[in-house]
Amino acid sequence: MSENNGVVLRMENITKTFPGVVALDNVSIDLNKGEVLGILGENGAGKSTLIKILAGNYIKDSGDIFVDGQKFEIRGPAEAVASGIRVIYQELNTLNNLTVAENIFIGEQIVKGPFRVVDWKTMIKRAFELLDTLNVKLDPNAIMGDLTISEKQIVEIAKAISKEAKILVMDEPTAALSEEETQSLFKIIRTLKSKGVSIIYISHRLKEIFEITDRVTVLRDGKKVGILKTEDTDENKLVEMMVGRDIKDMYPKREVKIGDIVMKVQNLKAEGFNDISFRLKKGEILGIFGLLGSGRTSLVKALFGANKIKSGEIFVNGKKLHVKSPSIARDEKIGLVPLDRKTEGLALMMGVKENITLANIKDLGKSFLIAKANERKKANKWIEEIGIRTPSVDQEVNSLSGGNQQKVVLAKWLESGSQIIILNEPTRGIDVGAKIEIYKLMQDLCERGSSVIMISSELPEIMSIADRIIVMSKGRFTDEYARKEASEEKLLHSACL
Ligand SMILES: Nc1ncnc2c1ncn2[C@@H]1O[C@H](COP(=O)(O)OP(=O)(O)OP(=O)(O)O)[C@@H](O)[C@H]1O
Ligand SMILES: [Mg+2]
Repeated sequence: MSENNGVVLRMENITKTFPGVVALDNVSIDLNKGEVLGILGENGAGKSTLIKILAGNYIKDSGDIFVDGQKFEIRGPAEAVASGIRVIYQELNTLNNLTVAENIFIGEQIVKGPFRVVDWKTMIKRAFELLDTLNVKLDPNAIMGDLTISEKQIVEIAKAISKEAKILVMDEPTAALSEEETQSLFKIIRTLKSKGVSIIYISHRLKEIFEITDRVTVLRDGKKVGILKTEDTDENKLVEMMVGRDIKDMYPKREVKIGDIVMKVQNLKAEGFNDISFRLKKGEILGIFGLLGSGRTSLVKALFGANKIKSGEIFVNGKKLHVKSPSIARDEKIGLVPLDRKTEGLALMMGVKENITLANIKDLGKSFLIAKANERKKANKWIEEIGIRTPSVDQEVNSLSGGNQQKVVLAKWLESGSQIIILNEPTRGIDVGAKIEIYKLMQDLCERGSSVIMISSELPEIMSIADRIIVMSKGRFTDEYARKEASEEKLLHSACL
């Protein structure tokens, strides 16, 4: 590989196994100077594993890595960073009790003078400038823990571009970003590209892949399916490569019989929204659409007892509820699949079985041994029934792919027999195959007599899956549409009122 023709990075025949799974099976990719290479694949295809090997977080079982034509043994993260490889991870790695500026410069503090004292002033100024190039108004002195997920994501991006990078890897950088923030990020990617930085871009959003990448490689079950010039391909072709079959229907919608009112919300007010009233019927999927900051998440938190209600009423099956805490909501058979499943929906360090039975520990049985056996039995039933891909019921959910983690959260509410399931952005960060499965699952739930509230900012999704759509803007409801009368223009218009 001495003649490298502008090839900055070559990963050759990389193989990596974990107990029970071959995460990567002889995968090779190359990356040219100044190009954006997309990596696509379903959840669990091996995308993150590949870049964790590049970043020195995982050690490959076999294969070779060449940087600028030179064979390069990456034994740890420091070596990867020293050779100009920067990674923005899928899981946020922010330190919540430090400030934004401290997070950006962690491990690489700017120092001054002969005694190398930390130069706070310069660091704060640099942090401000970096955030400014990303087009966000964030205070470098703000405490990380007070930021929203999208703000934290932006800090991670600022951190990655704070030092010169030769190879910049982004593992689903836009999962929590708004359209506007995404566009600012793309502007930066284009600038970096023009400076000769090579970028690996992982995303489940095909639209972004077409907008920003030069070439795209598809992984499936740990194997490379192919590598193509982006301009030579189209959505259908990529989806087919990802799932290994032709997808006829991205949004399978069934007609489910809709029954009587199960939930009635009247003039509800809490932090983040005001005077919200709506009804939810048995078997119905009610969509709530709104842009970032519209109050959607505050509303679902209030319904689930995690955001204090200031006034108004909630009735379920005609009974007035006082949802002062999530445990009361759970007892009333309300389940929540939260926006940030990693911090709110799952106990990441626990196994699949513990997570599935988490909301119903009481029902497992009094004796420890019986409870443990029941836990295993119930978990196995859901793994089978909704197709959770995991080596075993004991696997830590931390190591499952996004789509499978989301299914574990859903299984928890299925297990507890929830009547009303609230899903906040249910398919964020989830691949096409798993998305379709989740749409099917939501409708299975409705067929069994449950009702679903789905918050989504993906227009095609909400317009196809929800029976009725309510639009929020600035903490209020602005409009309501039946599925048949909704259009992208109408929804966006109502979301900006
Ligand atoms: N630390 C780990 N321990 C055990 N198994 C792992 C670990 N990390 C990844 N895996 C497994 O390796 C496979 C590939 O996972 P990986 O995270 O690379 O997928 P991905 O393509 O990034 O998926 P997603 O789109 O959900 O992020 C999966 O089966 C996953 O469960
Ligand atoms: Mg991943």
